[in-house]
Amino acid sequence: MPLTLDYSNVMVENIGETHGISESMLQTIIQNGHDVYNTLKEKAVQDILGFYKLPFDQQLVKSIKDYAEVARGRFNNYVHIGIGGSALGPIALQTSLRNSYYNFNEKPKMFYPDNVDPDWIQELTDHIDVSKTLFHIVSKSGGTAETAATALHFMRYLNEALGDDFYKNLLFTTDPVEGLLNRIASEYPIKCFRIPPNVGGRFSVLTAVGLVPAAISGIDIGQLMQGAAEMAEICKTTDLKKNPAFVYAAIHYHYMKKGKNISVMMPYSNKLKDMADWYRQLWAESLGKRLDNDKNIVSTGQTPVKALGATDQHSQVQLYVEGPNDKVLSFLEVEKFNNDHSLKNYFTYIKEFNYFEGKSLGQLLNAEKKATELALTNNERPNLTIKFPQIDEKSIGAFFFLLESATAFTGGLLNINAFNQPGVEEGKIATYALMGRGGYEQKKLAIEKQLKKKKTFEI
Ligand code: PA5
Repeated sequence: MPLTLDYSNVMVENIGETHGISESMLQTIIQNGHDVYNTLKEKAVQDILGFYKLPFDQQLVKSIKDYAEVARGRFNNYVHIGIGGSALGPIALQTSLRNSYYNFNEKPKMFYPDNVDPDWIQELTDHIDVSKTLFHIVSKSGGTAETAATALHFMRYLNEALGDDFYKNLLFTTDPVEGLLNRIASEYPIKCFRIPPNVGGRFSVLTAVGLVPAAISGIDIGQLMQGAAEMAEICKTTDLKKNPAFVYAAIHYHYMKKGKNISVMMPYSNKLKDMADWYRQLWAESLGKRLDNDKNIVSTGQTPVKALGATDQHSQVQLYVEGPNDKVLSFLEVEKFNNDHSLKNYFTYIKEFNYFEGKSLGQLLNAEKKATELALTNNERPNLTIKFPQIDEKSIGAFFFLLESATAFTGGLLNINAFNQPGVEEGKIATYALMGRGGYEQKKLAIEKQLKKKKTFEI
């Protein structure tokens, strides 16, 4: 198995009756879980939920590898223009599987401007030669304001540099048919990869959305998909007590019902910190829902929080150990770091440093994780650990799939639709209205009326 799930510290034996889960509680959720399992399986078989099949798409891997090889030879820079599900997975891949200083030494340099802060975007623009840059515009809907605006920003410079040949530096990843990017692609011979319509943005990291930048930066996407495929098989386990995605879901479902509405993901690894960011979107957008499938108002969800061990031991852990017992903590632990060396006490006259002798930074980091885990457990705070034997393509692919599958199970247990995002759409529509997009005039009037009710201080 590429990963390990240790959930001992949510059980009654370790954190007591008040906050712990007993075997029989787990068993009850498992009994109800069989229907959820069967419904999801049916939706996977019927191709309603496309993310289940993604890890097995060998043809996609091949075509992206071929494309990436050419792109690596042609471009000095790669700029990934997308937001939310069209950016967080790619960023997590870059952070976890490429050197943190990749852009100092490697080509193409990789950039992920996933916000429209004009200062930030201009700093990037001034840093790159656009004529030697591939702009990958990623939008499933093809119309997201931030993505479109960032693309238009760079178009100004591309037009200046390349004139009518601007399209040669563009790559689109979007819906097969719908959306404005397809309208542009019908005018110019722009290379397009597709996001299957049955795969939602936050479940799309194993499509061209994540695979293209990964392959361009030299990540072995075959191994990534292999890890995901192996986890996909594990997550099919019908004995739900042995199904890690279901167990993760059952634990979080139980605590949501008990009012623990915060899910902290705390990697003890800088390489995994953006995996927690990716999880934050997956968990928040999928499970934060007003209505259940029967249209009852449930206002359900768990606020995902990202923390970083050991850094946040000196910032957040006091709260986690002694503050409100309203959280479930998921640690991410790395068993064997890819780079780790023994320390030596160069200041032998300071005996207090002797305990470092022969120990490594990795040992210290993992001891700190263990210490935090114990402190939480001793204070009846539910926590679990997902252990990576090592950070590599396979374990990262497996992690993506595990959490996607767990999210689907949790949505099923909550009887909500984990695959839509009406709240996000509402914000997108308000943005269009505020920016004066045609067709949103009524919305704009309503917003202007609402904005008059403001109470502000001049400070
Ligand atoms: O998960 C989702 O569906 C969203 O977060 C989207 O990924 C995000 O809003 C960007 O949408 P699009 O890819 O259509 O530009």
